[in-house]
Amino acid sequence: KMISIIGVPMDLGQNRRGVDMGPSAIRYANLKERIKRLGYKVEDRGNLHVPTAETYKIENEKLKYLPAVVKVSEDICKEVSAVVKEGHFPIILGGDHSIAIGSIAGLTQVYKKLGVIWFDAHADFNTAETTPSGNIHGMPLACSLGIGHEDLINIGGFSPKVAPENVVIVGARSVDPEERELIKQHGITCFTMHEVDKMGIGKVMEEAIRIASEGTDGIHLSLDLDSIDPDMAPGVGTPVLGGVTYREGHLAMEMLYQSGKVVSCDVVEVNPILDKENKTARTAVEMVCSLLGQSVL
Ligand code: ARG
Ligand code: MN
Ligand code: MN
Ligand code: MN
Repeated sequence: KMISIIGVPMDLGQNRRGVDMGPSAIRYANLKERIKRLGYKVEDRGNLHVPTAETYKIENEKLKYLPAVVKVSEDICKEVSAVVKEGHFPIILGGDHSIAIGSIAGLTQVYKKLGVIWFDAHADFNTAETTPSGNIHGMPLACSLGIGHEDLINIGGFSPKVAPENVVIVGARSVDPEERELIKQHGITCFTMHEVDKMGIGKVMEEAIRIASEGTDGIHLSLDLDSIDPDMAPGVGTPVLGGVTYREGHLAMEMLYQSGKVVSCDVVEVNPILDKENKTARTAVEMVCSLLGQSVL
């Protein structure tokens, strides 16, 4: 199987500078070489173009940089669907989590029924009506379910992309009040840190994999590095205490690999400006290696 790396230096979905350097930081942490060592063929398709924030004026405070995010999302959609049509496994490097709107749009051009595991401290289930920040990176999961601004939900020409019964959030510990109501209203399965602690990550992932694979053509993992505890992933724009440990993260990725269902992943929110010794990108690379079959013996 060929792995295709696609970089998206997107920072328009939130308000901290530096997350546009995520793709460089993850490449610098040796992603390609490490994947090759696992026995895969790997191509790096370089970065997609993302306009510079300073060249834009924010027009809508509830949907910051909307036109630019829409344009980049369409580009991501085209690139991802092209590599999936070639039979490759795409790894989309963010950038902030708004890139998942485009990656899921691209995947669902090919995989008609896609399961999604949203591995994140947040639910990213806001809309213009519920968002406290106006940052689109807090909205991509809702958009993929067809909830949100029509330009964002219709990337790739159709909506919704995924069905609520095949979507699972894992690791949540920071959800906004109205966002919470939306999640409940749409019946999304969410394993918060409460469930991770109570059930253990093994049982949580068993359930998550079952839900995301039932009747689907494959699972997309959307991996926000802020899911991992800030001790091993400090370089993220919106860190939240009490996260998934390094070891729990590895077990989760290993179980996803063993399921044989994962067809793609996003690796998002790595911000090396907020980091020391590129720690977060190095954690990201370790997680991806486990997702792709790295094991001790
Ligand atoms: N819920 C907050 C918001 O809507 C934070 C979202 C954080 N999202 C992320 N992809 N890190 O602004
Ligand atoms: Mn090929
Ligand atoms: Mn996120
Ligand atoms: Mn997050």
